[in-house]
Amino acid sequence: MTREFIPIYKPYLKGKVKDNIIECYNSSWISSKGKFIDKFENSFSKFVGCKEAVSVTNGTVALHLALLALNIKPEDEVIVPTFSYVASANAIKYLGAKPVFVDSNELTWNIDTSKIVEAITPKTKAIMCVHIYGNPCNMNEIKKICKKFNLKLIEDCAEALGSYINNDHVGLNGDISIFSFFGNKTITTGEGGMLISKNKKLINRIRKLKNQSVSNFKEYWHDELGYNYRMTNICASIGVAQLEYVKEILQKKRVIAKRYISNLNQLKSQTVLPGSINSYWLNVFRLNNKKSVKKVREALKNNNIETRPFFSPLHKMPHLHSKQKFIISEKLSEQGVCLPSFPELKIKEIDKICDIIIKNNA
Ligand SMILES: Cc1ncc(COP(=O)(O)O)c(C=O)c1O
Repeated sequence: MTREFIPIYKPYLKGKVKDNIIECYNSSWISSKGKFIDKFENSFSKFVGCKEAVSVTNGTVALHLALLALNIKPEDEVIVPTFSYVASANAIKYLGAKPVFVDSNELTWNIDTSKIVEAITPKTKAIMCVHIYGNPCNMNEIKKICKKFNLKLIEDCAEALGSYINNDHVGLNGDISIFSFFGNKTITTGEGGMLISKNKKLINRIRKLKNQSVSNFKEYWHDELGYNYRMTNICASIGVAQLEYVKEILQKKRVIAKRYISNLNQLKSQTVLPGSINSYWLNVFRLNNKKSVKKVREALKNNNIETRPFFSPLHKMPHLHSKQKFIISEKLSEQGVCLPSFPELKIKEIDKICDIIIKNNA
C-alpha cells in the first residue's frame, strides 16, 4: 500500500489566490506595475504595524537592498549568526563586505548576544540578526549593543512572519527589516520579499535602488547603480490573497506546534524568551546525536514523510569559510531535524511522526 506523501511544507493557497491571478491575466497587468503591488504593501504594513513596506523579488535581494541602503561598503564588517540560511551572509558578500560570524545561544538557537561585543572591531558597521525558524531574538540586548557601538541593525525576519515581542511584530526594531515569501514561508507569493523601515529616507532610497535607480524627475535618467528587484503584480496578487487569511494560517500553525511540543516533550527545542511569541514557521527538534538524526530521518522517509536537516553553519561553507569554531551552531547542525509544518497537517499525522521519532531517537 502506498502511503500518502507528507511534505515538510506546502503553501496554503485558499481564498482569492486563483481569482487574483486570473484578474492579472485578464487585465494584462502581469509585470511589476498594477494595483496589487500597492495593495500588498499596504496590507502588509497594516499586518506588521509599520508605516510603509517595499515589495521586492525575494528575501535575498531584500537583504542586499537593506545593506546598500545602509551604505555598507567593501571591507566593512557585518555581524551575523553562523547558524542561518546562506542568504544572510551572501547578501553581505555581494557588497564586498565581510560577514563576521557569531555562535548561537544554546537555548534560543538565535545569535548569542553575550558573544557579540567580542566580535566588534573598528570596521564593524552593522548587526544582522536572524529570527531563526520563527523564534524572536533577544532584541533588547541587540539594540543596547547597537546603540553603545553606533551600529546599524538589520532584522532578517524571512522566517518570522507572525512572531511577536511584547505584542510588537518582529522587524519593528531594526533600521531596516526584511521578510521572505518563498513557497515554504508562512505566506507566499511564489517568490517574493519585503523591506520595512521607520525611516522615510531609507524607504525612498530602497524604492529607488530596486527600480534601477531611476530619477524621479527625468525619464530614463539613472544617477547611480541600480537594480531590477521589483515584485510582479501577479506575485503581489497572491500576497494580497494570502494576507486575508494569515491569521488562520498562524492559528493552524500554533495548534501543530503545540501538539509536536507536547508529544516530543523529552526532546529539546527552541526556548521562547518571556514576552515573545514564536510563529513556529518550522517545528524543529534536537535529537540525541548525529546517528539518531540519520536513523529518524530514514525511518520517516520510509513512511513517506519528508524532513530536513538543520542549516550547516555558514562559517563552514567554502565561500564564507572561517577557521573559528562555533560549538553550539555546529552541534545544532548535527543534531537537528525540521519536521512537516504546513497548515493543513493533521493531528493524527503529527502523532504518527512523533511515534516514529521516539522509537528511532536512540
Ligand atoms: C533566514 C533567511 N534569510 C533570508 C532568506 C532569503 O529569502 P528568499 O529565499 O526569499 O530569497 C531566507 C529564505 O529562505 C531565510 O531563511
